[in-house]
Amino acid sequence: MTAASAPGKVILFGEHAVVSGAAALGGAIDLRARVTVEDMPGRTQIDACNLMLQGFSYDLISGQVNSTGAANATRYISAVLKELEARDLKVSVESCIPAASGLGSSAAIVVAAIAALNSHMDLRLPKKEIASKAHEIEKSVQNGLGSPTDTALATYGGHCLVSSEIQLIDLPGLELVVGCTGRPHDTRAEVERVQRLHRRRPEIVDLVFQAIGSISSSAVSLMREQRLEELGELMNVNHGLLEALGVGTRELCEMIYAARGAGRALGSKITGAGGGGCMIALPRPDGAAALMVALEQARGTVFMARTGCEGVRLEADP
Ligand code: PMV
Repeated sequence: MTAASAPGKVILFGEHAVVSGAAALGGAIDLRARVTVEDMPGRTQIDACNLMLQGFSYDLISGQVNSTGAANATRYISAVLKELEARDLKVSVESCIPAASGLGSSAAIVVAAIAALNSHMDLRLPKKEIASKAHEIEKSVQNGLGSPTDTALATYGGHCLVSSEIQLIDLPGLELVVGCTGRPHDTRAEVERVQRLHRRRPEIVDLVFQAIGSISSSAVSLMREQRLEELGELMNVNHGLLEALGVGTRELCEMIYAARGAGRALGSKITGAGGGGCMIALPRPDGAAALMVALEQARGTVFMARTGCEGVRLEADP
């Protein structure tokens, strides 16, 4: 039996713009997905043990339980099994990362699955290969759309600046408050919507992407020098630009403004594709507890997340 785990992520700056080649800065977070592989001669089975699902439906006539989250997890694992020509195995998936929320749950599942199979089948793939295979699989399941941000962060951990290439950057971690709307989002649909706007209005959207890319690049030195007030300010500007691209929702914005109200957060923004999913806020020193209460009052599911966590790893105790 072999087990591996990989972290979820937050995009600190640059979502959507990164799909068109501008820079994005993301950090791996301290929530993980874990995949266990064991031999099962004559059969191949995928078990989704706990996926932090946001609901399912039950058909009284067929007796069938339908869950988009579970269907997605099995779709991704099936793609990994096919890519690595793996069979006669039981693959079990557990995840503490809320699904379809912009926190990189599918990338973490894919990367952990490749790493577990890599060790179990003695394939000797280096990390770079794990990251690129994971990105190709994510893209194939998402119909060819998507940057390598999520899969790079799930593989390498820490912080990455992604544009035409992936740059691992050594930065101090941030303590963030995450607010989830509980409304699952569809990354592909949001990306397609923004890309359509880009095609219709390139003269405007190019400038928005360019501004977002400059924010991501400027944020690196601010994080390194711990200039948190300025970093928060850039989060607010980046959020405004995401709103301009049309990926905000009322639930997300209520939390984002609740976070900023009465000076509770240094900055707040959508994280990930938007259209549902999650927002992040950077608390003032000693301000996290008040911030969490404000977000709960805005009807969010709220937790703390630390960025810069470890990437994929084998678990000694499967
Ligand atoms: O899947 P999400 O919600 O984390 O969105 C990823 C961020 C996008 O920039 C919108 C898409 C991408 O592939 O980078």
